[in-house]
Amino acid sequence: MKVMAFVGSPRKGGNTSKIVDSICVGIKENGHAVEVYYLSDLDNKGCKACGSCQENKVEYCAINDKMTAFLPKIADADYIIVGTPVYMLQLSGYTKNFLDRLFTFYVQSNHTARYLPGKKYITVTCSGAPAEAFRNVTEYLNQLFSGSFQMENAGNIIAGNLLNKDDIIKQQEILKQAEDMGRKLR
Ligand SMILES: Cc1cc2nc3c(=O)[nH]c(=O)nc-3n(C[C@H](O)[C@H](O)[C@H](O)COP(=O)(O)O)c2cc1C
Repeated sequence: MKVMAFVGSPRKGGNTSKIVDSICVGIKENGHAVEVYYLSDLDNKGCKACGSCQENKVEYCAINDKMTAFLPKIADADYIIVGTPVYMLQLSGYTKNFLDRLFTFYVQSNHTARYLPGKKYITVTCSGAPAEAFRNVTEYLNQLFSGSFQMENAGNIIAGNLLNKDDIIKQQEILKQAEDMGRKLR
């Protein structure tokens, strides 16, 4: 089983990262390997809207950057975990730029998807405000992954009251929920 986890916060070891790490602890207990990446390290140049991926001019993407090298790995993964902090009422820019590059997996001509349908996904969102304030961010992610990409939802973690880097340590129940979610991935 191949699991890829993406952290959309540039704050290394911050709340999003700690929750994603807890999911990974649960996954590793079952002997599965997980690769974790900070999206801020991926040198993502951003979708250029060139249309090459939709016109089958390239296998994945015409842009020459590290993100393009990740696309076949994502196509090959069984599970995808995406964690994002809330920035200015929405996903972080790193996360949105990452999601834009998944356009290659969407087939615009007939509104279907390739490679991703049937894979499982987990989302994590962290906000300074109470958790329920930004449920819309999770709903958006579900709309994209379950709806557009026809993936299976394996869990959503929505955490709030997290202003400082280590605030999540005070919410052990969330970290436990994350570990349990990871343990359940099959
Ligand atoms: C640029 C920026 C914008 C933010 N905007 C919001 C916001 O609109 N609403 C909110 O509740 N928290 C906001 N926050 C707080 C973060 O969502 C929160 O601290 C989160 O836990 C950060 O995750 P991290 O520790 O993984 O970096 C913002 C933080 C930054 C740096």
